[in-house]
Amino acid sequence: MEKGETVQVGDLFFSKFISRDEIRTQVLALAQRINTDLKGKDPVFIPVLNGSFIFAADLIREVDIPCEVSFVKMASYQGLQTGGTIKEVVGLQVSITGRHVVVVEDIVDTGLTMKHLMESFSRMKPASITIVTLFLKPDALKVELSLPYVGFEIPYKFIVGYGLDYNGLGRNLADIYQKADS
Ligand code: IMP
Ligand code: MG
Repeated sequence: MEKGETVQVGDLFFSKFISRDEIRTQVLALAQRINTDLKGKDPVFIPVLNGSFIFAADLIREVDIPCEVSFVKMASYQGLQTGGTIKEVVGLQVSITGRHVVVVEDIVDTGLTMKHLMESFSRMKPASITIVTLFLKPDALKVELSLPYVGFEIPYKFIVGYGLDYNGLGRNLADIYQKADS
């Protein structure tokens, strides 16, 4: 159901927040910086599924230096640790030892997912690890992370679209929508 700039995703309403054109502009800017900064380094891009699949596809198509791409997914388990979720990296199919790794993430919220992934990848002794994230919610960040490539800093409100979901829905929306105040 769609009325104007508002969409319903599952049981919630969301309002148009960032247009596909604004996203495009930021994706191009990030790709240009990566092309300059990682020239001669033959990076391995590692998009984190599921949320980053559209961002990664758009970003990597604008990368014009030699590179590889390998996807990972984070599996989480409830209840193994008090008050916490333990996340495990699954599916990495290339050796990253000695390589320049670029992790491609849709959104950094608390930062716990990226923190865990950085620690896990560090043990494999890459030459460098860099995070590129399309969105960052600075007010939600709970850990220290180096985030040199951020597309948009956004308020602490839930968003959907451009690969990001609410209960599995909304990934197909081409623009970004923000949860409407209810
Ligand atoms: P973190 O570990 O708290 O940084 O959470 C990161 C993950 O939570 C992201 O990769 C997303 O999958 C999900 N997430 C966080 N905020 C949002 C949001 O506003 N919309 C959709 N997914 C989100
Ligand atoms: Mg994600």
